[in-house]
Amino acid sequence: MPLLRTAMLWMARQRQLEALVRAAPPARPLVQRFIAGETLDEALAAVRQLNARGMTATLDVLGENVADAREAQAAAETYCHVLDQIAASGVESTISVKLTMLGLDIDPALAQRNLEAIVDHARRLGNRVAVDMEGSPYTQRTLDLFYALHPRYGDHIEMVLQAYLYRTERDVEDAIAHRARVRLVKGAYDEPPTIAYPSKRAVDAAYRRQLERLLEHGHFVSIATHDEAIIRAARGFIRRMGIGPYKYEFQMLYGVRRDLQEQLVRLGEPLRIYVPFGRQWYPYFMRRMAERPVNLLFVLRAIARG
Ligand code: FDA
Repeated sequence: MPLLRTAMLWMARQRQLEALVRAAPPARPLVQRFIAGETLDEALAAVRQLNARGMTATLDVLGENVADAREAQAAAETYCHVLDQIAASGVESTISVKLTMLGLDIDPALAQRNLEAIVDHARRLGNRVAVDMEGSPYTQRTLDLFYALHPRYGDHIEMVLQAYLYRTERDVEDAIAHRARVRLVKGAYDEPPTIAYPSKRAVDAAYRRQLERLLEHGHFVSIATHDEAIIRAARGFIRRMGIGPYKYEFQMLYGVRRDLQEQLVRLGEPLRIYVPFGRQWYPYFMRRMAERPVNLLFVLRAIARG
């Protein structure tokens, strides 16, 4: 249902709709399912619960596209504080950052300085930073920044590649050559067919191809999907090829397919949960709604009742 998905992703960018969703009490349980809270304390409590269930985490402070250098620097300071609190509380969690939140729209050099400050801090604490991948206008700039830092920080920094982009086959080969740690996702943005596979079937096939390549020849791959067929195929491939657990982990989003999360842990697979928190949850929340178009009905019903 690509039209519904496009409509949901359009809604994710509409500030007026954000006010409606925020003001609708019936939307709250749905929001709470995908967002671990608005404060760091709430998010750390969620991570503690995941750890107790045998899962590690990666914390994401929600926010995107800052327009002011001070805001970008404040975001970097917030992330350093999150790293300190992870260390102080003893939970098992890395962090995930978005470069537009660190100033990529203002000046790539500013985003690089902010990212460097965070990764440097993470290295001192023995932790790691994943650089989330945003829409296609940012792909090359995000990879450039990643590769500028990777020689110095190695496994303290992880990149994200989106299987739906045609260019990703090439980016996978670069990642293999650089021995970079990769999180492979299908891709969550609305991209035109000139640069991205338009059908789910083609995206799934691309994901499988790229994943096998990374599992066999890559340094470390985070298999970030809730797609049961892909997970089953990946586990079969890993077994057949004799690939050890030091080369991969599974990753899933907070609140999505909790049954499958539990199942993977029971099977003894390493699993990390992406845990978003913060006040600016609306665009992230709407991207999650777009992944399952039936969710649109829940949102509209909540707005109507609110
Ligand atoms: P697919 O969309 O085919 O879903 C497979 C099944 O999972 C569905 O049939 C349904 O059962 C379930 N499911 C999936 N999403 C659901 C939802 N929202 N609600 C309920 N059920 C759902 N993207 C990106 O562009 N940049 C990034 O940096 C990241 N980072 C990231 C980190 C992690 C840890 C994960 C798991 C995902 C991302 N993503 C991302 C999102 C990713 O691109 C993709 O949009 C989602 O993971 C959904 O795709 P699936 O691979 O799960 O497959």
